[in-house]
Amino acid sequence: TERTLSIIKPDATRRNLTGKINAKFEDAGLRIVAQKRIQLTKAQAGEFYKVHAERPFYDELCEFMASEPVVVQVLEGEGAIAKNREVMGATNPADADSGTIRAEFAESVGENSVHGSDAPETAKDEISFFFADLEIVG
Ligand code: GTP
Ligand code: MG
Repeated sequence: TERTLSIIKPDATRRNLTGKINAKFEDAGLRIVAQKRIQLTKAQAGEFYKVHAERPFYDELCEFMASEPVVVQVLEGEGAIAKNREVMGATNPADADSGTIRAEFAESVGENSVHGSDAPETAKDEISFFFADLEIVG
């Protein structure tokens, strides 16, 4: 089985959507094998999203991710990385398939409720960014 890093973003924690989003993951067969609620500093958000440092929305993205608490989690399952991205839907909620998290809950392309790792190598790095091995219980 595979693991992926998921973040429930500030727009979703603010609206009390953590449980509804977790139900989507669990209904899709993803197991939540680690989870914690934290508030990132802007510097930590910048480090996490450093691949986007040259994008025009980088500063706005980091401000947003540090604005309120997030829930970071490790999801586990068969093909978890791809499955999670399916459940999340397209980055822009206007393009997201109905039934996906972003179609149902996201407010805009920036405030789009969830993050999910996009490949095995990034999943590994992103999981260790937030969690020690002992904190992940499969
Ligand atoms: P993540 O799972 O969060 O990485 O989303 P993604 O892989 O679907 O999108 P991508 O990696 O291209 O962009 C990362 C994040 O930057 C997105 O999830 C958005 O929160 C934000 N973002 C992307 N495009 C825009 C944009 O045009 N404007 C703003 N404000 N934010 C954007
Ligand atoms: Mg991405």
